Amino acid sequence: MASATLLKSSFLPKKGEWGTTRQAAGPKPVTVSMVVHASAYADELVQTAKTISSPGRGIIAMDESNATIGKRLASIGLENTEANRQAYRTVLVRTPGLGQYISGAILFEETLYQSTVDGEKIVDVLVEQGIVPGIKVDKGLVPLAGSNNESWCQGLDGLASREAAYYQAGARFAKWRTVVSIPTGPSELAVKEAAWGLARYAAISQENGLVPIVEPEILLDGDHGIKRTFEVAQKVWAETFYYLAQNNVLFEGILLKPSMVTPGADCKEKATPEQIAHYTLKLLHRRVPPAVPGILFLSGGQSEVEATLNLNAMNQSPNPWHVSFSYARALQNSCLKTWAGRPENVKAAQNALLLRAKANSLAQLGKYSSDGEDAAAREGMYVKNYSY
Ligand code: 13P
Repeated sequence: MASATLLKSSFLPKKGEWGTTRQAAGPKPVTVSMVVHASAYADELVQTAKTISSPGRGIIAMDESNATIGKRLASIGLENTEANRQAYRTVLVRTPGLGQYISGAILFEETLYQSTVDGEKIVDVLVEQGIVPGIKVDKGLVPLAGSNNESWCQGLDGLASREAAYYQAGARFAKWRTVVSIPTGPSELAVKEAAWGLARYAAISQENGLVPIVEPEILLDGDHGIKRTFEVAQKVWAETFYYLAQNNVLFEGILLKPSMVTPGADCKEKATPEQIAHYTLKLLHRRVPPAVPGILFLSGGQSEVEATLNLNAMNQSPNPWHVSFSYARALQNSCLKTWAGRPENVKAAQNALLLRAKANSLAQLGKYSSDGEDAAAREGMYVKNYSY
């Protein structure tokens, strides 16, 4: 622990000052003392979170695990080899001008230590573009014993030493994705486990200089309506902030990565961007303190255009936080398909990425229009029980 300050109960009346009626009416007040731990990195964390939350910019999530990126590469007929993963990620980070729209890039561990195909450290290429490198630190989902077939997220063991090494390698923020499923519950146990895991991860990350992205994804699976998602999201975020506070997490030095509040993927009643924005902002206003600098949504299987329209709808009037994107599929899909593993397509693929990055940048500023978007960008990417 870097430093500890003892806060005494100075805000409470002194002994003998309590009114007699009050004393008679209830139990004597307990003496409150709290030990508040501050990370040695506090100022840096606040600055990193602010930089990532800069106007007109958001995050590219390019931290697919080797299993997940394997599925992406298979979709364009490529083998899941380290060389192919490196080639694809070189296309992404070498996109000229990307830093104008992208403030942070989440990497998988392999990429953090990898170079581009032309031999420059990927971390250095990002920094040159003004993009903050980040790192996925969770170890994925496994079945949660004693629950209703739900999951929990592994990765706390050894996290502090892994994160210290990631900081040395240039990472300045971290991501931990856990999920909550509506059709299978969610049970009290699953919500508590998700929230507690996120809070422990956040505290450990801050002690090691990494801004934690707090991501309890509420999966799109199910045929429930938007109001049910709203109800579950309120519960999940209440619990998450309760445990973040209990773990002395510095709210000015975190970022959130929620799912938007939408109907389940199989719900017959679809929602408009305005309805999604209405419920999502209502949730955020009720649950997220204004001390939190940035809220950067995941795309969760929405089409590229849907994800951009929904973000745009949320930025039609000022918010207390930076409301932006941290998309994987909704930023990369057209780019990956255009590239198709061919060197002659690299430029066109980079243009496709830049098009999506710019569209989402405009949406962050509330100035996006979907006129002229092509049909492929409107295709949904929902996958049942999605892992990352
Ligand atoms: P999607 O935008 O594809 O949902 O992925 C974002 C992400 O990082 C999930 O953890």
